[in-house]
Amino acid sequence: MQQATRKGDTGGNAYGREPLTYDADITEVGPGTPCGEFMRRYWHPVAVSAKVTSRPQNVRILGEDLILFRDGKNRVGLLYPRCAHRGTTLYYGKVDENGIRCCYHGWQFDVEGHCIDQPCEPGGGEHKSRVRQPWYPVQELYGLVWAYMGPPDKQPVLPRWDVFEALQPGEKILATGSSFGAGGDDTVEIVPCNWLQDWENIMDPFHIPILHTTFSGVQFVPEMGIMPEVVWDPVDLGMRYSAYRKLDDGREMDRVTLALFPHVRIVPDIRLSGGPAKGIGWVVPVDDTHFRLFHTTRVPADFKGRVSTRRPWSDMTEEEHQNEPGDWEAQVGQGPVSFHSEENLATSDRGVVMLRRALRRQIEIVKQGGDPAGVVFDPAKAVFKVEAGNFYREASVTT
Ligand code: FES
Ligand SMILES: [Fe+2]
Repeated sequence: MQQATRKGDTGGNAYGREPLTYDADITEVGPGTPCGEFMRRYWHPVAVSAKVTSRPQNVRILGEDLILFRDGKNRVGLLYPRCAHRGTTLYYGKVDENGIRCCYHGWQFDVEGHCIDQPCEPGGGEHKSRVRQPWYPVQELYGLVWAYMGPPDKQPVLPRWDVFEALQPGEKILATGSSFGAGGDDTVEIVPCNWLQDWENIMDPFHIPILHTTFSGVQFVPEMGIMPEVVWDPVDLGMRYSAYRKLDDGREMDRVTLALFPHVRIVPDIRLSGGPAKGIGWVVPVDDTHFRLFHTTRVPADFKGRVSTRRPWSDMTEEEHQNEPGDWEAQVGQGPVSFHSEENLATSDRGVVMLRRALRRQIEIVKQGGDPAGVVFDPAKAVFKVEAGNFYREASVTT
């Protein structure tokens, strides 16, 4: 393979390396950035519904700081934090039936930012209707609070997913918002690296036999150590891979995983139980150098909690993190935003390359004024299929 060219031939010596860069167009998510504007065309989970109460909380999404609360009429509000009066934060506000009241001079705003009271002004504020606290639309579905932070005239329908639309008796949806699925644990919410490092990891089946099965011992099941034969394909809403394995007992299986726009990850059971995937994850960018995961999963109604083969991530010592690194160590270890300029992408990275290319294409569509894949305005078309799972080939199971 050709060596990276550097000034003078240094024989690979680390001295005098070129300055490092990353591809800002597919990683940065702030307002006005290409990827940020692409992201803002979709609904994003911003909180687990059960954790949204009358106590205001700070949330940071797509590089924007916001205040989240639930009013006494069970409506959820997501407002810009600086009070429209003189700018103190609504984090110290109090919530009642009608909305949130600023601590400083008591101006009150409803969940759509209308100013509904100005107690220091004559008549409770004769001109209060001229004031509007910036707000974003929210909805609740599958145990999560979803926000739309894009142009109002482009607001799509909140997608639904077939796997959660036909619950069987004795089943429920478990909604979570922790770093568990990114190699962390249930006590940690935010992962300190760029969202793309996690999302593109979904199209990287080759780290499973190494990182998760041999390097760090068996983190899922021993069968994951079999090097798979992989085919990657574009699909309407993103990308899929199918990983074929012949197990030691003779059974053959295809493990199908999806990465859908803008940051959906659908990973079948990591213990290889057969059938369609029962859960969906969303890799929500907090800002350019942090993300958080939300998951919804179909579970038995009496489900008591997840079983991890690992010690909780936050209980591990530095030595244990070194001895048994997982997704957290590998992805955060790539740095706050991984430097694409010094990568040496190889055959096994085909899925990562294809996913980045597909992402660039969607970002370009938004730049040109179009609607990206998966943005739907017709409620009749807003139920998406989860076409992922561990599929055992029938002949191999019966023989
Ligand atoms: S700063 Fe909020 S009411 Fe005055
Ligand atoms: Fe992984």
